[in-house]
Amino acid sequence: MKPARSIAILTGGGDCPGTNAVIRAVVKKAILELGLKVVGIEDGFDGLVNRKWRKLHYMDVSGILTAGGTILGTANKCDPYRWPECKEEGKAIHFTDVSKTAITNLDGLGVECLVCIGGDGTLSIGNRLCQDGVPIVAIPKTIDNDLRGTDVTFGFDTAVSIATEAIDRVHSTAQSHHRVMIVEVMGRTSGWIALYSGVAAGGDIILLPEIPYALESIVRTVTKRARSGKRFSIVVVSEGARPKGGSTVVQRIVETSHEPVRLGGISYVLGHDIEQATGIECRQVVLGHLQRGGPPTPTDRVLATRLGTKAVEMIEQRQHGHMAGVKGNDIVAVTLDEPAQGPRYIPPDHPLIASARSIGTCFGD
Ligand code: F6P
Repeated sequence: MKPARSIAILTGGGDCPGTNAVIRAVVKKAILELGLKVVGIEDGFDGLVNRKWRKLHYMDVSGILTAGGTILGTANKCDPYRWPECKEEGKAIHFTDVSKTAITNLDGLGVECLVCIGGDGTLSIGNRLCQDGVPIVAIPKTIDNDLRGTDVTFGFDTAVSIATEAIDRVHSTAQSHHRVMIVEVMGRTSGWIALYSGVAAGGDIILLPEIPYALESIVRTVTKRARSGKRFSIVVVSEGARPKGGSTVVQRIVETSHEPVRLGGISYVLGHDIEQATGIECRQVVLGHLQRGGPPTPTDRVLATRLGTKAVEMIEQRQHGHMAGVKGNDIVAVTLDEPAQGPRYIPPDHPLIASARSIGTCFGD
C-alpha cells in the first residue's frame, strides 16, 4: 500500500492577524480535497531544527478563523543558515549553519512539501531551502505590506483599521487641549500603514520612510493651521521615518534576528522638535504591537482564505519555489525570488500620496 501523502506547515517572523485563518484554509483544503496528512512545525524554523512538530487534525483548525496570533507559534530568530548558538541578548553570539539538520529532519518526516507562511525573512530562508532541494510553497504574511511579488499582504488591513481607530480617538484630545498629537505606527522601512491609516483618519501631516522630512515643513503646516483657527494638528508618523540627511531612530538591535534592527521612538524626537519650534504642546502615542493583535478584519480573513486554498492548489500542481500572491483581483503563483529581493517601498508617485497632497495633507517635504 502507498504511504499517505503528507505536507508540513510552519509560520515564521512576527505574528500577524490572519495567520490562523491561513493555517485553517491550508489544513482544511489539504484534508478535505486531497486527503493529505498535515504536520504542523512549531515555532517556525526553530521547530524544524529542534524537531518540534505535531499532526494537525481537522478539529485542530476548526474555530481559529478569528483568532489572532498563530496556533503553531512563531520565531524571528531562527535562520537555519545563520543559527545563533547562544540566543541571550547582550551575550557574544556565534552563528553556525544548521540547514542540513533542518533538511534531514524534514526528510525524516517524509512530507512532499513544506508550506512556509512568513514575511521577507521567512520567505528568503524558504527560497534558500528550496535552492537546497526542499520543495517549498509559500504564503506572504506581514502587517507591513512591504513584500515584493504581491500587491497586498493579509494583516495589513487589520493593522490599518487598528491604527485608524487610534488616530480617530486622539482627535478629541488634540482638539480639546489644542495640542499636536503624534501617532507612531509600525511598518519598518516602508510607510504603508502610516499612509493608509493617515489618510483614513484625516491626519494633517503624514511622515513616511520613503519621503524624508524637513522639520520646517512640518512647523509651517502646524503654525498655518493654528493661525487659521485650527489650534491642533494630527501627525501620523511611520516608525521608519527620518529627517532629510538624518537617520532613523533605532529602539534595539536583535542580533539573532534575520532583520536585526527594531525601529521606534521617532515620535518623541518629533514631539520635542515641534514643541520647541512652535511652542505648541505635543503628545505622542506609540501603537506598537497593538497593531498586530486580536482578530483579523473580514478583508484579511477573506484574503487569508484565498491565499491558503491557492497554496494547496500549488502543492497539487507541484509549483515548488513559488508563493501565492495577489495580482489585481487574482491570486497567482509568484516565484519566491521576488520577495527575497528586499522590501517593497511606496513609490513616490503613488496615487494615494497624490490624492492626499491634493487635499492639503503635508508629507513633510
Ligand atoms: O514586521 C512586522 C513588525 O511588526 C514591524 O512593523 C516592526 O518593526 C517589527 O515587526 C517589530 O518586531 P518585534 O515584534 O520583534 O519587536
